[in-house]
Amino acid sequence: MDPAGLRAEFPVFEQFAYLNAGTCGPLPAASVQAVTDVLAQAAADGRSQTYFTGMLDTRGRLRDAYAQLLGAASEDVALTTSTSEGIVRVLAALELQPGDEVLTSDEEHPGLQGPLAAARTQRGITIRVVPFAQIADAVGPDTKLVACSHVSWVNGCVVQDLSGVGDVPVLLDGAQGIGAIATDVSSLRCAFYAGSGQKWLCGPVGSGMLWVSPDWNERVPASGPTYLNLAEPSAGLDAVPHAGAARHDTSAQSLETTAAALAALGVLSDAGWAEVHEQAAALAGSLADALAERGREVAPRDRTTLVSWKDDDPAATRVKLAQDGVIIRDLPGTGLLRASVGAWNDASDVDRLLCALA
Ligand SMILES: Cc1ncc(COP(=O)(O)O)c(C=O)c1O
Repeated sequence: MDPAGLRAEFPVFEQFAYLNAGTCGPLPAASVQAVTDVLAQAAADGRSQTYFTGMLDTRGRLRDAYAQLLGAASEDVALTTSTSEGIVRVLAALELQPGDEVLTSDEEHPGLQGPLAAARTQRGITIRVVPFAQIADAVGPDTKLVACSHVSWVNGCVVQDLSGVGDVPVLLDGAQGIGAIATDVSSLRCAFYAGSGQKWLCGPVGSGMLWVSPDWNERVPASGPTYLNLAEPSAGLDAVPHAGAARHDTSAQSLETTAAALAALGVLSDAGWAEVHEQAAALAGSLADALAERGREVAPRDRTTLVSWKDDDPAATRVKLAQDGVIIRDLPGTGLLRASVGAWNDASDVDRLLCALA
């Protein structure tokens, strides 16, 4: 991998030490170009056959690229707009009943908590919350679903080995996993993996994916099949959803969105995914070490891309750092600041952050 070459693909680094991929990854120039090309052609030619065949073709290639990254078959991957949408679709399809227990952790994001709380109100499910580090050992007799993060957005810890959950399906929130660390859905022992396209995959907001294990495919009907989900839409009321995960595809995603997402994946895969993961984890580790050496209380973490540490006034510090050109985020309610370190970052970003904090 050519780290400087990869970094040069992202215009944001001309000005900023951008360390915020856990919210939205840096956008590569290639994605901007892809959107521009699509829209220029659409404006000149109208959006008819060429636009729609281009859209279907690009959707297929995006699905293949996501599948490759997940270690999965393309037919088991749905195209969504976000991690949250994937979570919502799985919870709707599972048709949980009153009294069914969902086991979750104390480090989950509103993208999972919101849909779980709604299922509690609307369906009468019970939600049991346990420490993230203990989730795999906490399954009880009433547990019908385990729903938690692959990588905690709070501190970068990785979910423990899930073999202890037995036959209970696991829905993993992969927002901070896919693209950040090597992800192989078959070894994660989950039934569902929902991920974001706009974070560690550097795509546009409105891109993402949902993997459905082939073992669960038959048991999760499409919760709202519309045109793109139907195998033969012209069959009208007799139309049936696609056999695979495409039945869970989001109902509308523009060609410009899919083209931008695909272009970003191209930039990262050209750099080499193994190198991208290694470079990011190594740099994040060196940031964590440097913060600790400077007396900062770094939250316990695993070898991932997120580094969180205590701060007396995280919101104010985040604003001050932004004025110095260093972009990170604070995590409201935790007393933590969080830096997201990708392969596109380098030692100069880490130095800038440490100087601005001093
Ligand atoms: C762990 C986690 N889950 C879910 C989300 C929401 O992601 P999306 O906007 O793709 O739904 C985030 C976003 O920060 C996150 O960190």
